[in-house]
Amino acid sequence: MPHTIVIFGASGDLTSRKLIPALANLMRNGLLPEETTIVGFSRTLMTDEAWRDSLQATTEAHAGGQPFTATDWEAFAPSIHYQPGDIGKAEDLARLQDRLQALEGGRAATRVYYLATAPQFYAPVVSALGNLGMASEDAGPRRLVIEKPFGTNLETARALNSHIHTVFNESQVYRIDHYLGKESVQNILALRFANTIFEPVWNRRYIDHIQITVAEEVAVGRRGSYYDSAGVLRDMFQNHLLQLLMVTAMEAPVRFNADAVRNEKVKVLDAIRPLDLGHVADAGIRGQYAGYTAEPGVAAESQTATFGAIRLEVDNWRWQGVPFYLRSGKAMSCRTTQIVIGFRQPPLELFAADNSRSQREANRLVIQIQPAEGIQLHFHTKVPGDGMRLRLTDLEFSYSREFAGRLPEAYEPLLLDCMTGDASLFARADEVEKSWGIIDPFVRAWQSVDMSPIPTYEPGNWGPPSSTDWMLAQGRSWFDLCPVLS
Ligand code: BG6
Repeated sequence: MPHTIVIFGASGDLTSRKLIPALANLMRNGLLPEETTIVGFSRTLMTDEAWRDSLQATTEAHAGGQPFTATDWEAFAPSIHYQPGDIGKAEDLARLQDRLQALEGGRAATRVYYLATAPQFYAPVVSALGNLGMASEDAGPRRLVIEKPFGTNLETARALNSHIHTVFNESQVYRIDHYLGKESVQNILALRFANTIFEPVWNRRYIDHIQITVAEEVAVGRRGSYYDSAGVLRDMFQNHLLQLLMVTAMEAPVRFNADAVRNEKVKVLDAIRPLDLGHVADAGIRGQYAGYTAEPGVAAESQTATFGAIRLEVDNWRWQGVPFYLRSGKAMSCRTTQIVIGFRQPPLELFAADNSRSQREANRLVIQIQPAEGIQLHFHTKVPGDGMRLRLTDLEFSYSREFAGRLPEAYEPLLLDCMTGDASLFARADEVEKSWGIIDPFVRAWQSVDMSPIPTYEPGNWGPPSSTDWMLAQGRSWFDLCPVLS
């Protein structure tokens, strides 16, 4: 069956920097289903040719891997089409529908409607598709892909879900979190559920705590006005960090399919201890990088957090008493995304006399998601020579050493999954709502007028000094290595 991908918000950055390069890579790797047609829809008046021309340079710049050659482009460009129109005008949507039918030659086709617009257009596009009967699956599957942010809190996420469900069934809806498309995130499932050696130690008996860090070196740049109303909690925690927590903490699904995987993930969210406003203050640290309020689009007195660290407790048999520390920030020391499984100390410290406390750091398993992908296991080794002096040494697995070639960009597998109808790596309605339910109390507490002025940190640090002190006060320390694999 032919495939049609309709991109709403075709003239935006996401389309030119991520979606089209990902589709182009799928094509040159022979993975794009045959007879795939891409149709861009946005207000800018353009012909097919003009849109193709504008996309050639951005695709070459963002495709990654081997240079994207003119021959690659010539093979790909004929699949791209453009239909100008205004989402708010029924007649423009009707014209789009006619164009799609003409391109599909009146045959049944799988259609993917990709919402790459600003979030305020999600609901109007869904209504327009509903009004024209474009969600009906009489002429082939119809799928809706929605980018983040999915709402701005629990209430708006619920309202958006209810609205979507008036037109699409949940099984037709694909909510994107591009972190789930990253190879090294999917590999966490392989590490945990395709091996037996980790499972016996993956619990409260052996694990002291878990740290999940997404540090970015970049500042907010041109996205000041969006970011100032979102802040790090909405921008990173509700989606990416909680997704990483879920894949780290979930039980093994009984099958590897969308429902079974997502059921297990949702159970993790259900087990996260709810916090009332009174307790949220102790369970997190916020910060703002110096110079943030001078960024374009940012309010001069802004108290928006560009750094956050929070502690969550997962109240189930596996994780009771094991804190999960989630941390993310802009303008930090380096770009690194890592999950650190911090193991307990041995019950008896036999070699304390010959070794300082820092030499006796506990075992760690460090899963590095980016920029370099891989895993390190940290364990003690006797330093050759006198006595029982120890040093933390490591076993390392690195993707780039093990596998030749580039890793696919996150959008590549995700786009393919929407086309083939595999929703395992997409957030379900309840997952999104429960995630907001966990993050909302932090957002409210951090916005409360009772909060003292937000602590600042110098760009290039690991957040404000209070973040280090907060961990030390809990008898732990952040694993601040930039990045552990190179
Ligand atoms: C986006 C956030 O969802 O993720 C950005 O809106 C952030 O603020 C980005 O920079 C990080 O993604 P990645 O893949 O570069 O880690």
